[in-house]
Amino acid sequence: MKINRLDIAKQIINDNINDPSMTEAERFNAIRQQLLPIQELMSYYRCAIMEVETKFNVLNEEMSILYDRNPIESIKSREKSFESIFMKLQRKGLPMTEASIVNHINDIAGIRVICSFQEDVYKLTDALLQQDDVTLILKKDYIRHPKKNGYRSMHLIIEIPIFLAEAKKMMRVEIQLRTIAMDFWASLEHKLKYKQDVENSAHVIQELKDCADIIAQVDHRMEALRHEVSLNPKERTP
Ligand code: GTP
Ligand code: MG
Repeated sequence: MKINRLDIAKQIINDNINDPSMTEAERFNAIRQQLLPIQELMSYYRCAIMEVETKFNVLNEEMSILYDRNPIESIKSREKSFESIFMKLQRKGLPMTEASIVNHINDIAGIRVICSFQEDVYKLTDALLQQDDVTLILKKDYIRHPKKNGYRSMHLIIEIPIFLAEAKKMMRVEIQLRTIAMDFWASLEHKLKYKQDVENSAHVIQELKDCADIIAQVDHRMEALRHEVSLNPKERTP
C-alpha cells in the first residue's frame, strides 16, 4: 500500500493530537512540535552513516596497501524514508514518535558494503567489530546460514557514537556486507519478490534457489582462483 505525507500527518493527529477543542493553527503547531525531534533524529542517523562509511573507507585504504587490492567494490547508503518508518511503526502498532523510532527500528541508517570476495566480507566484519567505539547489537550471518530462499549476506546491527557540538549520541546502524555475486542475486530477487503482496509460484521459488546455489559456487570458485593467482604470499594457495 502506498502512503503519502498527508496520510501520515492525519494519522499523527489521530494518534497524538486528538483534542477536538484545538483550533486548526494549534493542531498545525502541535504536529510541528511532534515532527521536529524526529527531523533532528534523522540528521543524527545521517551523521552515523557518515561515520560508518568513513570506517569502511579507512579499512579499504589500509587493506589496499596490505594486500595490494581493494576489498570493497562499492558502498551504498540510505536513510529509511519517512513513509517506510511510518509503515513499519504501524505494522508494529506503535505511534510515530521519536521514542518508538529509537527503541523499535534498527534500520533507519542503512549501509550496504559490496565486497569483491566472500573472505573480504569476513575480514571487514571482524575489523569493524573489534573497533572500540563499535558495539555489536545483532549479527546475522546469512552466508554461513543462508535463508531458505537462497539469500546470502552478512547483517550487522551496530551502535556507534556521534559527537555533536554539545552532546554525544549513540546511534544504531544496519550494515549489510555481501559480494558482488550475492548483491546481483539479492537485487534481482528483490525486484521479483521481496515484500510483494503476491506469492511467487513454486517454480519461481525453486529457480531463485537454484540461481542462488549457482552464484554461491561461482563465489567460491572465484575466491579459489584469486588464491591461485595472488602475488601476495599471505593470500596465495600453499
Ligand atoms: P526488516 O525486514 O527490515 O524488518 O528486517 P528483518 O527482521 O527481516 O531482518 P533481516 O536482517 O532478515 O533483513 C533486513 C534486510 O535485509 C531487509 O530489509 C532486506 O534489505 C534484506 N533482506 C533480507 N532478506 C532478504 C531476502 O530474502 N531477499 C532480499 N533481496 N533481501 C533480503
Ligand atoms: Mg529493513
